Amino acid sequence: MLNEEWPAGLGPVICVVGARPNFMKMAPILRAFRAHRPALPTLLVHTGQHYDRDMNDRLFVDLRLPHPDINLEVGSGTHAVQTAEVMRRFEPVLDAHRPSCVLVVGDVNSTLACALVCVKKEVPVVHVEAGLRSHDRLMPEEINRVLTDQIGDRLYTTERSAHANLAREGIADERICFVGNVMIDSLLANRECAVPATRTLQLAGADPAVLDHPQGYAVVTLHRPSNVDHVDRLRPLLRALREVSEKLPLVFAMHPRTRANVERSGLSDLLATQRIVLLPPQGYLEMLGLLSSARLVLSDSGGLQEETTALGVPCLTIRENTERPITVEQGTNTLVGCDPSAIRRGVDEILSGSGKIGRVPEFWDGRAAERIAADLAVWLIARHLQPAVNASS
Ligand code: UD1
Repeated sequence: MLNEEWPAGLGPVICVVGARPNFMKMAPILRAFRAHRPALPTLLVHTGQHYDRDMNDRLFVDLRLPHPDINLEVGSGTHAVQTAEVMRRFEPVLDAHRPSCVLVVGDVNSTLACALVCVKKEVPVVHVEAGLRSHDRLMPEEINRVLTDQIGDRLYTTERSAHANLAREGIADERICFVGNVMIDSLLANRECAVPATRTLQLAGADPAVLDHPQGYAVVTLHRPSNVDHVDRLRPLLRALREVSEKLPLVFAMHPRTRANVERSGLSDLLATQRIVLLPPQGYLEMLGLLSSARLVLSDSGGLQEETTALGVPCLTIRENTERPITVEQGTNTLVGCDPSAIRRGVDEILSGSGKIGRVPEFWDGRAAERIAADLAVWLIARHLQPAVNASS
């Protein structure tokens, strides 16, 4: 049984967010840390990797995330510049606040950058969403995942296959704890407040009547550099989307990277049809509303694979691999790669009623953050007491 008070002399948990997919993971964790007895003291650090209103501010409001205590304001840059800049600016934060540990989530550049600073200063690293592997080392996120787990001290996993991946990389069982999926905590906590899709279109100045189609509508997102940075890859993908739009209307929430590349490559015409509604990146509650009533989702996102599985909405993932295999094995996700004919086939299958039904995976139950709070409090307090035990024995 733990005391009601956090031990004097045990520092706060520094919680790091950097980019959009981190925000929905951190929100339930901060709430669970506050609700736990004893409450875990926290300091929220935003690296500033994502910074604009659509990618950042709206999500903070939607998710009821507290204002960051510290913003490192690193902004955009090459991967090396972004990672180095986060490291340079994060180190003095550790010196000033002497945390009990640093908690990082997911696989973005900020995740690895902060973990690297910690390991060199002997500050324990806690990684939420550990052990996911696409086995594709060309993905920057895969490198971030592998390295963060190697130097992480406490690793929280979302699915059981992650444990096997970590074990294969030589990570001891004692460092790993299966807690479930904090993304789904956010989804379940916010589902009631989702903004209806018609309202989202109205607000964006689009005609909501487009959604009124016998086949329903599909939600599209694309942002992976491998899909959107090269015109030879992007053009056939956009052509395939155009063809799909003849079967059912598409709502395409465009990442800034994708928008810039479409415009730069002169491909805007491929999307210029009334059947494709182009929106800027959406708030969390808007996206949740769009997903909840969609007939299907076409995306290369990591998070959407999980959210569609939790919602029971079919998802066609425009990638050759996934680090979230449970969404394919148990959920509604199908990998279609980047081949336009496979995308068309996948859509036809769903529209003919033979798409996947799926089920919700173990521990994707809205209580993952609670499990993290309970485990982490015990782990930190035990570490804190350890030297005293050793000294008295
Ligand atoms: C990052 C993550 C990726 C995650 C994605 C979600 C890494 C390696 N990648 O990729 O895992 O799925 O976020 O969005 O960390 N930009 C803006 N406004 C912003 C942020 C970015 O316009 O608020 C522009 C940048 O100028 C840049 C582009 O978007 O040109 C990409 O941003 P960046 O943070 O480099 O990576 P993402 O592609 O967003």
